Amino acid sequence: GNHQLLASKSILITAGPTREAIDPVRYLSNHSSGKMGFALATAAQQLGAQVTLVSGPVQLPTPPGVTRIDVVSAQDMYEAVLAQVEQADIFIGCAAVADYRPEQIADSKIKKHQDTMHLSLVKNPDILATVAHQPNPPFTIGFAAETDDVVRYAQDKLEQKRLRLIAANDVSDTQIGFNSDDNAMQLLWQDEQGQLQQLSLNRASKLQIATQLLQHAATLMK
Ligand code: C5P
Repeated sequence: GNHQLLASKSILITAGPTREAIDPVRYLSNHSSGKMGFALATAAQQLGAQVTLVSGPVQLPTPPGVTRIDVVSAQDMYEAVLAQVEQADIFIGCAAVADYRPEQIADSKIKKHQDTMHLSLVKNPDILATVAHQPNPPFTIGFAAETDDVVRYAQDKLEQKRLRLIAANDVSDTQIGFNSDDNAMQLLWQDEQGQLQQLSLNRASKLQIATQLLQHAATLMK
């Protein structure tokens, strides 16, 4: 069977949201639950891989047999990933990394003196693209959460971020995605001739979807 499909493989996975501090008590973040990334870690471990999970702040237990590194901000996640990536055969960027962070973190709590307040934001590093653009990159897999033109945007990301595989899901569908236990997605990749290929994974539990995604990645890696 598929039991040890990923034996002797080392996998690095990011999961969950990041938190970008505004001042000592406030932050910017998003609704990522981390469930998909944790399901991938569980599935990879079950398939025999050695798994390292770099997680933002989530309310989930560490899957058995998985090495977990907790981080808070996108910058923390970036540094943790770059410190681990050399040992990885596969990298999966599943985290909902904040695109921007406050330009400055106030040293003390910001007071509500003014009627309007402006927050200046700067772009965070793209962890996934950084990994994939390394000289000797792992087999790099990304996610694309889109609300429309799912396939077109995912294809752009596949090419621009130099990914080997991208999993696209329609986050406008409330049955699946963010905090749900189920998911459905389209896998996109380029074959050896450079032709775009697609595979639909129908609605199933995140653990089942994760297993199918990893089985597909293992096939492409051969
Ligand atoms: O460009 P976009 O944010 O839509 O791309 C999503 C993919 O890129 C996800 O796999 C996500 O984990 C990854 N990403 C990242 N670092 C960022 C932004 C996104 O690794 N700063």
